[in-house]
Amino acid sequence: MTETTAPVAFPQSRTCPYQPPAAYDPLRSERPLTRITLFDGREAWLVSWHATARALLADPRLSSNRNRPGFPAPTRRFAGIKNRRTALLGVDDPEHRTQRRMVVGDFTLKRAVELRPRIQQIVDERLDAMIAQGPPADLVSTFALPVPSMVICALLGVPYADHDFFETQSRRLLRGPETADVEDARDRLEAYFGELIDSKQRDPGTGLLDDLVHRQLSEGALDREGLIALALILLVAGHETTANMISLGTFTLLQHPERLAELRADPRLVPAAVEELMRMLSIADGLLRMAVEDIEVAGTTIRKGDGVVFATSVINRDEAVYPEPDTLDWSRPARHHVAFGFGIHQCLGQNLARAELEIALRTLFDRLPTLRLAAPAEEIPFKPGDTIQGMLELPVTW
Ligand code: HEM
Repeated sequence: MTETTAPVAFPQSRTCPYQPPAAYDPLRSERPLTRITLFDGREAWLVSWHATARALLADPRLSSNRNRPGFPAPTRRFAGIKNRRTALLGVDDPEHRTQRRMVVGDFTLKRAVELRPRIQQIVDERLDAMIAQGPPADLVSTFALPVPSMVICALLGVPYADHDFFETQSRRLLRGPETADVEDARDRLEAYFGELIDSKQRDPGTGLLDDLVHRQLSEGALDREGLIALALILLVAGHETTANMISLGTFTLLQHPERLAELRADPRLVPAAVEELMRMLSIADGLLRMAVEDIEVAGTTIRKGDGVVFATSVINRDEAVYPEPDTLDWSRPARHHVAFGFGIHQCLGQNLARAELEIALRTLFDRLPTLRLAAPAEEIPFKPGDTIQGMLELPVTW
């Protein structure tokens, strides 16, 4: 394939928090794969087409093992910690399969249904507190972040009292300005989980981490470092992502009053709306892989050692699958989006995330029918392109 223009730099920041950066327009092209440059000048492939993305995300010739020499790094921050021990997302089968089997029982659809009353209770309590103090309020710190944090703490058996600590360290891990910051955050989280695991060995509780300590660690299926890595990804992935979807989802709905009115008129649309918001917002916008063999795809050869990046915001707007892809439409079948990934690493927490989003958004707009932004939309800060997308703050009033 011949390139006619210089490769697009990836990642870039959005100018509107719910639209891909305009600089990605050339990637939304007739080509399924395009060359991009990463922060260190290295080139990689970027996948744009939905069908190609799903085929490649299910292809075992693409590795997810971040410890492999040459694994692509989208940021200096990621490069700084990619040799740390990881779990699930950062490992390949068969190790990945073994780890996933240890935890999947707690993330089934059935389990998410069982958790709904508890999620509803958490959402109600957070809204009671926010209403008692406001208006106005910052929806991120009063609602969008505490709800998923409390839910994942309850599920894992992590004390929510420690939330200031782990939310701060997760934020540094995902967005720290310097590599040293990210390494330090990782060290602190590892030390925290080490102590938590020791205390659970002495004094067992009832969460998933307690089960893992007693079933897997004691029986030798996991070592202590392996369990720490697993606990870390479950806690960080379990609260940051969903928090960003709640804040950015709320912002997007407030910017689309006619769509919001449809939801208010018919709450049965909420599950479809969550799916469509997932597609449209694509908050995890840059999934990473490395080819471990040559792969022929759509007339192109991905060479062994090449980095491959999946820009979900581009893939989820493939016109061949989603006509008028930039329009929010509750009636479209959005379910096959790749906002939760695809293949063996497809989001472990997706059933839980859907339940949280449905309950949080429905209850928020039910309880506060006059909810609106408390600052001009263009002045509200959102996250830069090199991390999970979402709002930094969301000033609201009612
Ligand atoms: C709306 C919220 C969420 C979004 C957008 C999201 C997105 C994603 C995506 C895109 C992947 C695949 C990454 C890749 O293939 O490179 C993933 C994997 C994962 N997610 Fe989520 N996620 C969300 C919520 C959650 C929750 C609530 C949990 C709970 C623990 C969770 C845990 C995980 C884990 C453990 C993996 C790795 C799975 C594996 O490698 O087998 N996520 N998520």
